[in-house]
Parts: sequence; structure tokens; C-alpha cells
Amino acid sequence: MTDINPDRTLASLVEESPACARTFESLGLDYCCDGDQALAAACDRNDLDVDEVRDRLAETRDRIDGDATDYEWDDLEELADHIVEAHHDYLREELPKLEDIVETVAKVHGENHPELRDVEAEYRELAAEMREHIDEEEEELFPVVGKLDRGERLSADEIERLREEIRTFEEDHAATADRLERIAELTDDYAVPEDACPSYRSMLERLDQLERDTHMHVHKENNVLFAEASDRLAAASAEP
Ligand SMILES: [Fe+2]
Ligand SMILES: [Fe+2]
Repeated sequence: MTDINPDRTLASLVEESPACARTFESLGLDYCCDGDQALAAACDRNDLDVDEVRDRLAETRDRIDGDATDYEWDDLEELADHIVEAHHDYLREELPKLEDIVETVAKVHGENHPELRDVEAEYRELAAEMREHIDEEEEELFPVVGKLDRGERLSADEIERLREEIRTFEEDHAATADRLERIAELTDDYAVPEDACPSYRSMLERLDQLERDTHMHVHKENNVLFAEASDRLAAASAEP
């Protein structure tokens, strides 16, 4: 039997050992937007045997070493910088490239695969929303998180605004997750059809990668950065 406590939340398991994210992805368990659900409850809801899942998690965690040390984030400013470099920069480069591929594939294969037109429409909305979202995080949210991290005093207005922004960004994350889920459904979980050309294949791989990267990105924001910032805000507003 493993040492993984089934009452722990999915987010806390990924926080401690990012390798768990791979297992959750493969089982279809949402550890980012729904990261506060307990492992046992999540397995129950998805008809999975919790003990089997615990064994798989322990096995993945033990096999993939090293990642966990990257997750000791006490320094929120450092975490925000990491998110920009690891996820926002990736999106800035990937979103326009993938948009071209999605457009071409829909044009070439749309007749045999009409769902590709819906993929294209959904992707365009997704890309536009994500671009706006990451710009706003960097301009409006991360600088104030930095101030909080350095122990600078925030005004009551700044505290209220930050709380409001965190709520809005979390809503954006949920909307992004819905769009990615819709794309996964439309492509039958990125299954490669027999008549797929290399571009079609590459599009599916890159959409899959985008979804995985976004889950990890949102996890780091919702469950680590925003959660810690909210705790510090609560402490700051309790100060006399
Ligand atoms: Fe972000
Ligand atoms: Fe975000």
C-alpha cells in the first residue's frame, strides 16, 4: 500500500510532486481548476478505483525524480517570473504558429472532417483570450504580487483590486479549460485519422501539448500563486 493519503487534494499532490500531473492527465482528473477536490472523491466521481490510482501515482512519482525540487515556491515573485518564462513565453510563440496550422488544416481537410471548422473557430477564440489574459496578468497582477512578496504595504484599494483581479483571472482559467475540453472532444482526444497529413498530425500533437501545458500553468497560478497571494492579502488586511 502506498503512502499517498486519499484525503489529500489533487492540487496538493501535484504541488508536492509534479509528476502526478501526468497520471491525472491520463485519467482525465482535473487537478488545476478543480484542484481542491480530494483524491478519493475525484476517483469516486470518475468511477476509478482509488487504491489503483494511488499505486499509479506512487509509481510515477518514484520513477520521475527531480521535478519536485522545482516546486519549492516561497518566493512569489520568483514563481511569477517562472510562469512568464515557462508558460507565457511559450504561448506567445506557439499560439500564432498553431493558429496558422489550424487554419490550413481546416481549409485542406474541412470537407472530409467538418468538425475541423469548429476546431478552428474555437481555437481562434481561445488564442485571442489567452493572449489578452497573459498580458493582463503581467501588467496588472504580477507587479502587485511582487510588492506583496517584498512586504511592501498595500493600500486598501490595492488589496481590494487584487482580490477582484484574482477572481477574474480564475474565471478566465475556467473558460480556457472549457474551450480546450471542447477542442479535445471535437478531435476525439487528438486521435489521428487515417487520412491525416503531417500538418494535421502536427496540429493534433500541438493542441494536445497546449492543453497539457495549460493545465500545469493554471495549476501553478490557481493553486500556488493565487492561493498564497490570497492568504497574504487576508493577513495584510487584518493588520491594524
Ligand atoms: Fe498565466
Ligand atoms: Fe492565468
